[in-house]
Amino acid sequence: MSMRTIQAVAMAERAEPRAEPAVTSHRNEKPVPTVLKHPATGVEARVYVGDCREVIPEIEECRRGVVDLVFADPPFNWNRPYDQWDDAMARGDYLHFTEQWLSECHRALRPGGAMWVNIPDDTAAEIVVYLKRLGMEMVNWCVWHYRFGQNTVRRFINSKVHALYFVKPGGAGHGEDTQGRTWNPGEVLELSDRATTYFDPRTLSKKDGMPPGQRVPMDVWYGPYWGRIQGNNKERRGNHDNQLPEVYLERVIRACSNKGDLVLDPFLGSGTTGLAAHWLERRFIGCEYSAANAASAIERIKSEPLRIGKLQPAGTAIHAPRGVKESRRQFDGVLGPARAEKPAKVAIKKRVKRATAGAGAIRRKRSDV
Ligand SMILES: C[S@@+](CC[C@H](N)C(=O)[O-])C[C@H]1O[C@@H](n2cnc3c(N)ncnc32)[C@H](O)[C@@H]1O
Repeated sequence: MSMRTIQAVAMAERAEPRAEPAVTSHRNEKPVPTVLKHPATGVEARVYVGDCREVIPEIEECRRGVVDLVFADPPFNWNRPYDQWDDAMARGDYLHFTEQWLSECHRALRPGGAMWVNIPDDTAAEIVVYLKRLGMEMVNWCVWHYRFGQNTVRRFINSKVHALYFVKPGGAGHGEDTQGRTWNPGEVLELSDRATTYFDPRTLSKKDGMPPGQRVPMDVWYGPYWGRIQGNNKERRGNHDNQLPEVYLERVIRACSNKGDLVLDPFLGSGTTGLAAHWLERRFIGCEYSAANAASAIERIKSEPLRIGKLQPAGTAIHAPRGVKESRRQFDGVLGPARAEKPAKVAIKKRVKRATAGAGAIRRKRSDV
Protein backbone atom coordinates (compact mmCIF):
# COMPACT_ATOMS: atom_id res chain seq x y z
CA MET A 1 0.00 0.00 0.00
CA SER A 2 1.44 3.40 -0.96
CA MET A 3 1.93 6.10 1.67
CA ARG A 4 -0.79 8.14 0.01
CA THR A 5 -3.28 5.27 0.29
CA ILE A 6 -2.33 4.66 3.91
CA GLN A 7 -2.90 8.35 4.70
CA ALA A 8 -6.22 8.34 2.86
CA VAL A 9 -7.37 5.27 4.80
CA ALA A 10 -6.22 6.81 8.08
CA MET A 11 -8.08 10.06 7.33
CA ALA A 12 -11.22 8.17 6.42
CA GLU A 13 -10.98 6.23 9.68
CA ARG A 14 -10.59 9.42 11.67
CA ALA A 15 -13.36 11.21 9.82
CA GLU A 16 -16.43 11.99 11.88
CA PRO A 17 -19.31 9.71 11.10
CA ARG A 18 -22.09 11.36 9.14
CA ALA A 19 -23.85 13.64 11.59
CA GLU A 20 -27.28 13.23 10.07
CA PRO A 21 -28.62 10.21 8.27
CA ALA A 22 -29.45 11.02 4.70
CA VAL A 23 -32.95 9.59 4.78
CA THR A 24 -35.54 11.78 3.17
CA SER A 25 -38.76 11.29 5.01
CA HIS A 26 -41.86 11.09 2.87
CA ARG A 27 -44.12 11.08 5.88
CA ASN A 28 -46.61 13.86 6.33
CA GLU A 29 -47.76 12.75 9.72
CA LYS A 30 -46.28 11.18 12.80
CA PRO A 31 -46.22 7.38 12.82
CA VAL A 32 -48.99 5.92 14.94
CA PRO A 33 -48.08 2.79 16.92
CA THR A 34 -50.21 -0.13 18.01
CA VAL A 35 -50.08 -0.05 21.79
CA LEU A 36 -50.30 -3.19 23.93
CA LYS A 37 -50.60 -3.29 27.68
CA HIS A 38 -49.56 -6.36 29.61
CA PRO A 39 -52.76 -7.58 31.30
CA ALA A 40 -51.04 -8.40 34.60
CA THR A 41 -48.35 -5.74 34.89
CA GLY A 42 -49.69 -2.89 32.73
CA VAL A 43 -46.27 -2.59 31.08
CA GLU A 44 -46.55 -1.10 27.59
CA ALA A 45 -45.30 -2.38 24.22
CA ARG A 46 -45.59 -0.24 21.09
CA VAL A 47 -45.23 -1.45 17.52
CA TYR A 48 -44.63 0.94 14.61
CA VAL A 49 -44.89 0.08 10.94
CA GLY A 50 -42.39 1.73 8.62
CA ASP A 51 -38.74 2.22 7.81
CA CYS A 52 -36.91 2.44 11.13
CA ARG A 53 -34.70 5.21 9.75
CA GLU A 54 -37.79 7.36 9.41
CA VAL A 55 -39.77 6.11 12.38
CA ILE A 56 -37.12 6.25 15.14
CA PRO A 57 -36.45 9.99 14.81
CA GLU A 58 -40.21 10.59 15.27
CA ILE A 59 -40.47 8.67 18.56
CA GLU A 60 -40.39 10.94 21.54
CA GLU A 61 -38.18 8.76 23.79
CA CYS A 62 -35.74 8.23 20.93
CA ARG A 63 -35.53 11.97 20.29
CA ARG A 64 -34.79 12.48 23.99
CA GLY A 65 -32.17 9.69 23.97
CA VAL A 66 -33.59 7.73 26.88
CA VAL A 67 -33.70 4.19 25.48
CA ASP A 68 -31.94 1.75 27.84
CA LEU A 69 -31.30 -1.12 25.46
CA VAL A 70 -31.30 -1.52 21.66
CA PHE A 71 -31.39 -4.97 20.10
CA ALA A 72 -31.07 -4.98 16.30
CA ASP A 73 -31.24 -7.97 13.97
CA PRO A 74 -31.20 -6.23 10.59
CA PRO A 75 -31.81 -7.73 7.15
CA PHE A 76 -28.48 -9.31 6.11
CA ASN A 77 -28.84 -8.38 2.42
CA TRP A 78 -28.88 -12.06 1.54
CA ASN A 79 -31.75 -11.76 -0.91
CA ARG A 80 -34.24 -13.24 1.53
CA PRO A 81 -37.85 -13.11 0.44
CA TYR A 82 -39.01 -10.61 3.05
CA ASP A 83 -42.64 -9.64 2.79
CA GLN A 84 -41.84 -6.07 1.65
CA TRP A 85 -38.20 -5.21 2.16
CA ASP A 86 -35.72 -5.44 -0.75
CA ASP A 87 -32.96 -7.66 0.64
CA ALA A 88 -30.67 -7.43 -2.38
CA MET A 89 -29.26 -3.92 -2.31
CA ALA A 90 -26.01 -2.93 -3.98
CA ARG A 91 -23.27 -3.38 -1.39
CA GLY A 92 -22.59 0.36 -1.10
CA ASP A 93 -26.29 1.09 -0.57
CA TYR A 94 -26.52 -1.61 2.09
CA LEU A 95 -23.56 -0.16 3.98
CA HIS A 96 -25.08 3.30 3.77
CA PHE A 97 -28.40 1.93 5.04
CA THR A 98 -26.50 0.20 7.87
CA GLU A 99 -24.80 3.42 8.96
CA GLN A 100 -28.10 5.26 8.87
CA TRP A 101 -29.97 2.94 11.19
CA LEU A 102 -26.96 2.56 13.50
CA SER A 103 -26.81 6.36 13.82
CA GLU A 104 -30.51 6.55 14.68
CA CYS A 105 -30.22 3.82 17.31
CA HIS A 106 -27.12 5.44 18.78
CA ARG A 107 -28.96 8.75 19.11
CA ALA A 108 -31.92 7.03 20.79
CA LEU A 109 -29.78 5.41 23.51
CA ARG A 110 -29.16 6.95 26.90
CA PRO A 111 -25.58 7.36 28.09
CA GLY A 112 -24.72 3.99 29.59
CA GLY A 113 -27.34 2.28 27.39
CA ALA A 114 -26.45 -0.96 25.63
CA MET A 115 -26.66 -1.77 21.95
CA TRP A 116 -26.63 -5.33 20.62
CA VAL A 117 -26.38 -6.13 16.91
CA ASN A 118 -26.94 -9.61 15.48
CA ILE A 119 -24.95 -9.80 12.25
CA PRO A 120 -23.17 -12.45 10.15
CA ASP A 121 -19.56 -12.43 8.97
CA ASP A 122 -20.11 -10.23 5.89
CA THR A 123 -20.83 -6.99 7.72
CA ALA A 124 -19.67 -7.53 11.30
CA ALA A 125 -16.36 -5.74 10.78
CA GLU A 126 -17.95 -2.69 9.17
CA ILE A 127 -20.46 -2.38 12.01
CA VAL A 128 -17.78 -2.65 14.67
CA VAL A 129 -15.71 0.07 13.00
CA TYR A 130 -18.70 2.36 12.53
CA LEU A 131 -19.91 2.00 16.12
CA LYS A 132 -16.42 2.76 17.39
CA ARG A 133 -16.35 5.86 15.22
CA LEU A 134 -19.63 6.89 16.81
CA GLY A 135 -17.84 6.70 20.15
CA MET A 136 -19.44 3.48 21.35
CA GLU A 137 -17.39 1.08 23.46
CA MET A 138 -17.32 -2.61 22.84
CA VAL A 139 -18.13 -4.78 25.84
CA ASN A 140 -18.24 -8.20 24.17
CA TRP A 141 -18.02 -9.68 20.72
CA CYS A 142 -20.20 -12.72 21.30
CA VAL A 143 -20.90 -15.50 18.86
CA TRP A 144 -24.17 -17.34 18.53
CA HIS A 145 -23.16 -20.83 17.44
CA TYR A 146 -25.71 -23.20 15.90
CA ARG A 147 -25.16 -26.72 14.68
CA PHE A 148 -27.23 -26.83 11.52
CA GLY A 149 -25.94 -24.22 9.10
CA GLN A 150 -26.49 -24.36 5.35
CA ASN A 151 -24.64 -27.42 4.06
CA THR A 152 -21.83 -26.85 1.54
CA VAL A 153 -18.71 -28.65 0.34
CA ARG A 154 -17.13 -25.54 -1.18
CA ARG A 155 -15.84 -24.10 2.09
CA PHE A 156 -16.37 -24.53 5.82
CA ILE A 157 -20.01 -24.57 6.80
CA ASN A 158 -21.26 -21.38 8.43
CA SER A 159 -22.40 -22.09 11.95
CA LYS A 160 -22.40 -18.72 13.69
CA VAL A 161 -23.68 -15.18 13.80
CA HIS A 162 -22.00 -12.36 15.70
CA ALA A 163 -23.74 -10.79 18.66
CA LEU A 164 -22.00 -7.45 19.13
CA TYR A 165 -22.42 -5.81 22.52
CA PHE A 166 -21.60 -2.12 22.81
CA VAL A 167 -22.24 0.53 25.44
CA LYS A 168 -22.76 4.24 24.93
CA PRO A 169 -20.28 5.84 27.31
CA GLY A 170 -21.06 8.64 29.71
CA GLY A 171 -23.54 6.96 32.02
CA ALA A 172 -23.19 7.70 35.69
CA GLY A 173 -23.57 5.73 38.84
CA HIS A 174 -21.84 2.42 38.34
CA GLY A 175 -18.18 3.34 38.24
CA GLU A 176 -15.89 4.05 35.36
CA ASP A 177 -15.33 0.50 34.22
CA THR A 178 -18.98 -0.17 33.44
CA GLN A 179 -19.79 3.25 31.89
CA GLY A 180 -23.01 3.31 33.89
CA ARG A 181 -24.40 0.39 31.95
CA THR A 182 -26.89 -2.04 33.41
CA TRP A 183 -25.29 -5.43 33.96
CA ASN A 184 -27.05 -8.24 35.82
CA PRO A 185 -24.75 -11.28 35.79
CA GLY A 186 -26.83 -13.07 38.42
CA GLU A 187 -29.79 -13.18 36.01
CA VAL A 188 -28.04 -15.25 33.36
CA LEU A 189 -25.83 -17.76 35.15
CA GLU A 190 -25.04 -21.23 33.91
CA LEU A 191 -23.42 -24.25 35.51
CA SER A 192 -19.66 -24.27 35.16
CA ASP A 193 -17.72 -27.10 33.56
CA ARG A 194 -15.94 -27.49 36.88
CA ALA A 195 -19.32 -28.44 38.36
CA THR A 196 -20.87 -30.51 35.58
CA THR A 197 -17.81 -32.24 34.20
CA TYR A 198 -14.76 -32.14 36.42
CA PHE A 199 -16.40 -32.10 39.88
CA ASP A 200 -13.74 -29.67 40.99
CA PRO A 201 -14.48 -28.54 44.57
CA ARG A 202 -12.94 -25.11 43.94
CA THR A 203 -16.19 -24.08 42.26
CA LEU A 204 -18.18 -24.79 45.43
CA SER A 205 -16.65 -21.88 47.31
CA LYS A 206 -16.70 -19.11 44.76
CA LYS A 207 -15.08 -15.80 45.57
CA ASP A 208 -16.67 -13.80 42.74
CA GLY A 209 -20.06 -13.49 44.43
CA MET A 210 -21.78 -16.00 42.17
CA PRO A 211 -23.54 -19.09 43.61
CA PRO A 212 -21.58 -22.33 43.98
CA GLY A 213 -21.01 -24.14 40.68
CA GLN A 214 -22.36 -21.30 38.53
CA ARG A 215 -20.70 -18.72 36.32
CA VAL A 216 -21.48 -15.98 33.81
CA PRO A 217 -21.86 -17.65 30.37
CA MET A 218 -18.91 -17.54 28.01
CA ASP A 219 -19.05 -15.39 24.88
CA VAL A 220 -19.88 -18.28 22.53
CA TRP A 221 -23.54 -19.19 22.92
CA TYR A 222 -24.98 -22.59 22.13
CA GLY A 223 -26.82 -25.47 23.73
CA PRO A 224 -30.37 -26.73 24.18
CA TYR A 225 -32.90 -24.28 22.69
CA TRP A 226 -30.11 -22.26 21.03
CA GLY A 227 -30.58 -23.84 17.60
CA ARG A 228 -31.76 -21.93 14.54
CA ILE A 229 -35.52 -21.66 14.50
CA GLN A 230 -36.13 -23.97 11.59
CA GLY A 231 -39.44 -25.17 10.19
CA ASN A 232 -40.11 -27.87 12.76
CA ASN A 233 -38.98 -25.92 15.81
CA LYS A 234 -41.75 -25.38 18.35
CA GLU A 235 -41.00 -21.64 18.43
CA ARG A 236 -41.30 -21.21 14.68
CA ARG A 237 -43.82 -18.61 13.43
CA GLY A 238 -45.33 -18.81 9.96
CA ASN A 239 -43.63 -16.76 7.21
CA HIS A 240 -40.55 -15.96 9.29
CA ASP A 241 -37.38 -17.74 8.35
CA ASN A 242 -35.11 -15.41 10.29
CA GLN A 243 -36.45 -15.83 13.76
CA LEU A 244 -34.07 -15.79 16.70
CA PRO A 245 -34.43 -18.23 19.62
CA GLU A 246 -36.31 -16.93 22.64
CA VAL A 247 -33.40 -17.82 24.95
CA TYR A 248 -31.09 -15.49 23.01
CA LEU A 249 -33.30 -12.47 23.69
CA GLU A 250 -33.94 -13.62 27.23
CA ARG A 251 -30.21 -13.59 27.94
CA VAL A 252 -29.63 -10.15 26.40
CA ILE A 253 -32.64 -8.53 28.05
CA ARG A 254 -32.10 -10.01 31.50
CA ALA A 255 -28.38 -9.20 31.51
CA CYS A 256 -28.60 -5.66 30.15
CA SER A 257 -31.86 -4.16 31.42
CA ASN A 258 -34.09 -4.00 34.46
CA LYS A 259 -37.85 -4.25 34.85
CA GLY A 260 -39.46 -1.03 33.61
CA ASP A 261 -36.51 -0.17 31.32
CA LEU A 262 -37.13 0.80 27.71
CA VAL A 263 -36.05 -1.65 24.99
CA LEU A 264 -35.97 -0.76 21.28
CA ASP A 265 -35.88 -3.19 18.33
CA PRO A 266 -35.72 -1.43 14.94
CA PHE A 267 -36.23 -4.69 12.96
CA LEU A 268 -39.00 -6.49 14.76
CA GLY A 269 -39.56 -9.41 12.35
CA SER A 270 -41.58 -12.12 14.09
CA GLY A 271 -41.42 -10.17 17.35
CA THR A 272 -38.97 -12.23 19.43
CA THR A 273 -37.52 -9.16 21.18
CA GLY A 274 -40.98 -7.76 21.88
CA LEU A 275 -42.20 -11.06 23.26
CA ALA A 276 -39.22 -11.40 25.61
CA ALA A 277 -39.18 -7.76 26.70
CA HIS A 278 -42.93 -7.68 27.37
CA TRP A 279 -42.83 -10.96 29.28
CA LEU A 280 -39.89 -9.78 31.36
CA GLU A 281 -41.71 -6.53 32.19
CA ARG A 282 -39.61 -4.12 30.16
CA ARG A 283 -41.26 -1.33 28.17
CA PHE A 284 -40.85 -2.01 24.49
CA ILE A 285 -40.74 -0.16 21.17
CA GLY A 286 -40.56 -2.21 17.97
CA CYS A 287 -40.44 -1.12 14.36
CA GLU A 288 -41.17 -3.29 11.33
CA TYR A 289 -41.28 -2.36 7.65
CA SER A 290 -43.89 -4.94 6.69
CA ALA A 291 -47.41 -4.36 8.00
CA ALA A 292 -48.13 -8.10 7.80
CA ASN A 293 -45.03 -8.98 9.84
CA ALA A 294 -45.90 -6.29 12.38
CA ALA A 295 -49.43 -7.69 12.75
CA SER A 296 -48.03 -11.17 13.34
CA ALA A 297 -45.47 -9.81 15.85
CA ILE A 298 -48.23 -8.03 17.76
CA GLU A 299 -50.14 -11.29 18.13
CA ARG A 300 -46.97 -12.97 19.30
CA ILE A 301 -46.18 -10.28 21.87
CA LYS A 302 -49.65 -10.86 23.34
CA SER A 303 -48.98 -14.58 23.70
CA GLU A 304 -46.88 -16.54 26.16
CA PRO A 305 -43.29 -17.43 25.34
CA LEU A 306 -42.47 -21.10 25.05
CA ARG A 307 -39.06 -21.19 26.67
CA ILE A 308 -38.39 -17.98 28.54
CA GLY A 309 -37.92 -18.51 32.25
CA LYS A 310 -38.47 -22.24 31.97
CA LEU A 311 -34.85 -23.33 32.00
CA GLN A 312 -32.93 -24.05 35.14
CA PRO A 313 -29.29 -23.02 34.84
CA ALA A 314 -27.74 -25.62 32.57
CA GLY A 315 -24.16 -26.38 31.66
CA THR A 316 -22.62 -26.11 28.21
CA ALA A 317 -19.65 -28.41 28.70
CA ILE A 318 -18.62 -30.30 25.61
CA HIS A 319 -16.98 -33.24 27.36
CA ALA A 320 -18.71 -36.08 29.15
CA PRO A 321 -18.52 -35.93 32.98
CA ARG A 322 -15.23 -37.18 34.36
CA GLY A 323 -14.26 -38.44 37.74
CA VAL A 324 -15.39 -40.97 40.24
CA LYS A 325 -18.76 -41.24 41.98
CA GLU A 326 -17.38 -39.91 45.27
CA SER A 327 -16.28 -36.63 43.70
CA ARG A 328 -19.68 -36.31 41.96
CA ARG A 329 -21.47 -36.75 45.27
CA GLN A 330 -20.18 -33.46 46.73
CA PHE A 331 -22.06 -31.73 43.90
CA ASP A 332 -25.48 -33.14 44.74
CA GLY A 333 -26.46 -29.79 46.27
CA VAL A 334 -25.62 -27.94 43.06
CA LEU A 335 -26.56 -30.46 40.38
CA GLY A 336 -29.16 -32.57 42.18
CA PRO A 337 -28.50 -36.21 43.06
CA ALA A 338 -26.87 -38.17 40.28
CA ARG A 339 -29.16 -40.34 38.23
CA ALA A 340 -27.94 -43.80 37.41
CA GLU A 341 -25.81 -42.63 34.52
CA LYS A 342 -25.22 -44.77 31.50
CA PRO A 343 -21.73 -44.72 30.06
CA ALA A 344 -21.51 -42.28 27.12
CA LYS A 345 -20.94 -45.12 24.65
CA VAL A 346 -24.22 -46.81 25.54
CA ALA A 347 -26.09 -43.52 25.22
CA ILE A 348 -24.59 -42.88 21.77
CA LYS A 349 -25.40 -46.38 20.60
CA LYS A 350 -28.98 -45.88 21.73
CA ARG A 351 -29.27 -42.61 19.78
CA VAL A 352 -27.89 -44.16 16.63
CA LYS A 353 -30.35 -47.02 16.97
CA ARG A 354 -33.21 -44.56 17.39
CA ALA A 355 -32.03 -42.57 14.38
CA THR A 356 -32.00 -45.56 12.10
CA ALA A 357 -35.27 -46.97 13.43
CA GLY A 358 -37.27 -43.72 13.25
CA ALA A 359 -35.59 -40.84 11.41
CA GLY A 360 -38.50 -38.55 12.32
CA ALA A 361 -37.79 -38.74 16.02
CA ILE A 362 -34.18 -37.68 15.71
CA ARG A 363 -35.07 -34.89 13.29
CA ARG A 364 -37.46 -33.42 15.81
CA LYS A 365 -34.69 -33.32 18.36
CA ARG A 366 -32.26 -31.59 16.02
CA SER A 367 -34.24 -28.39 15.82
CA ASP A 368 -33.95 -27.96 19.55
CA VAL A 369 -30.22 -28.49 19.86
C1 LIG B 1 -33.75 -10.55 10.31
S1 LIG B 1 -35.42 -10.07 10.43
C2 LIG B 1 -35.65 -9.84 12.17
C3 LIG B 1 -36.00 -11.12 12.86
C4 LIG B 1 -36.31 -10.97 14.33
N1 LIG B 1 -35.13 -10.72 15.12
C5 LIG B 1 -37.02 -12.21 14.86
O1 LIG B 1 -36.53 -12.87 15.79
O2 LIG B 1 -38.06 -12.56 14.31
C6 LIG B 1 -35.40 -8.44 9.81
C7 LIG B 1 -36.76 -7.78 9.76
O3 LIG B 1 -36.55 -6.38 9.51
C8 LIG B 1 -37.55 -5.90 8.63
N2 LIG B 1 -36.97 -4.69 8.00
C9 LIG B 1 -36.12 -4.63 6.96
N3 LIG B 1 -35.76 -3.36 6.73
C10 LIG B 1 -36.40 -2.59 7.63
C11 LIG B 1 -36.42 -1.20 7.89
N4 LIG B 1 -35.71 -0.34 7.16
N5 LIG B 1 -37.15 -0.75 8.93
C12 LIG B 1 -37.88 -1.63 9.68
N6 LIG B 1 -37.90 -2.95 9.47
C13 LIG B 1 -37.17 -3.44 8.46
C14 LIG B 1 -37.83 -7.04 7.70
O4 LIG B 1 -39.11 -6.92 7.13
C15 LIG B 1 -37.67 -8.25 8.64
O5 LIG B 1 -38.92 -8.61 9.17
